[in-house]
Amino acid sequence: MIENLTQEDLLCMRKAGKVAALALKSLRKFIKPGISTKDIEVFFENFLESYPGMVAAFKGYKGYPAALCVSVNEEVIHGIPSLFKVIGDGDLVSVDLGIKYKGLFVDTAHTYIAGRVSAVAKKLVSVSLKSLFCGIKRVRIGATVGDIGSAIQTHVENHGFSVVRKFVGHGIGRGLHCVPEVPNFGRPGDGMPLFENTAIAIEPMVTAGHYDVDVLSDGWTAKTKDNSLSAHFEHTVAITRKGPWILTA
Ligand code: MF3
Ligand code: CO
Ligand code: CO
Repeated sequence: MIENLTQEDLLCMRKAGKVAALALKSLRKFIKPGISTKDIEVFFENFLESYPGMVAAFKGYKGYPAALCVSVNEEVIHGIPSLFKVIGDGDLVSVDLGIKYKGLFVDTAHTYIAGRVSAVAKKLVSVSLKSLFCGIKRVRIGATVGDIGSAIQTHVENHGFSVVRKFVGHGIGRGLHCVPEVPNFGRPGDGMPLFENTAIAIEPMVTAGHYDVDVLSDGWTAKTKDNSLSAHFEHTVAITRKGPWILTA
C-alpha cells in the first residue's frame, strides 16, 4: 500500500534532506587518497551529533553493520566501511547515506573522485549524475516509474555505459524502502504511476562495462562482475502538484 505523506511529513523530510546534503557536501573536501572508508563513516557519525533527533538510518537496517555505505571503484553499492580499505589516487568513491528523523527517512548518494582524475572516471561520474536528473525531470503526478527508468537508461546507454538491473530505487517515507520499485531502466508508460504527496528515491547505479553484479562474501558489497568502474547518485524526491521536489538537494 502507498502511504501518503502530509505536508508536515514532507517538511521534516526536507529538514533531514538538507542535513544529508550538507554531509555529502562536507565530504567533498574530506575524501582524499590515504583516508580509510571507516574514516568516512566516523566523519558522518560525528557530523550527525550536531543535529538532535537525526540518526544514521542504515545502522542495523536488515542487520547492516555501519552508519553509511562506501563503495570504491568496481564496487557498486553497500560497501561496508573498513579501517583496512584505504582510498587510493584516482579512486571512485561512492557514498550512500540515509537519515531517520521523526520516524521519516531520506536517502541520498554521491560519487567522488579522489586525487587525480582519469578521463573515463570523469565521464562515468558526469553521465551518472546527469542520468539522475534526466530521471528526476520525469517526475510528475501520473507519470510512471517506467518513464523515469527509461529516461535514465537512455541517457546512460547513449554514452556507452550500462545501468545495473539487480538493484533499483524505491518509495521512501515512514520506511526506508517502500513501494514502488523505481528501476533505472524500462519503457515509458510501464509500471506503477506516481501519486501526489508520496516520495521516491531515484538512484542510478551505472557501470563502465557490463551491468552484471556479484555480492561479495561479506553478504553486502555489490561489485561489477567484470570489475569495471561504477558510479552511484541518489536523491529523495517528493511528488507534488508543482512537480518534483528534491528533498535531499
Ligand atoms: N541506501 C541504500 C539505498 O539506496 C540502502 C542501504 S541499505 C543498508 O537504497 F542496509 F545497506 F544500509
Ligand atoms: Co541510498
Ligand atoms: Co535508496
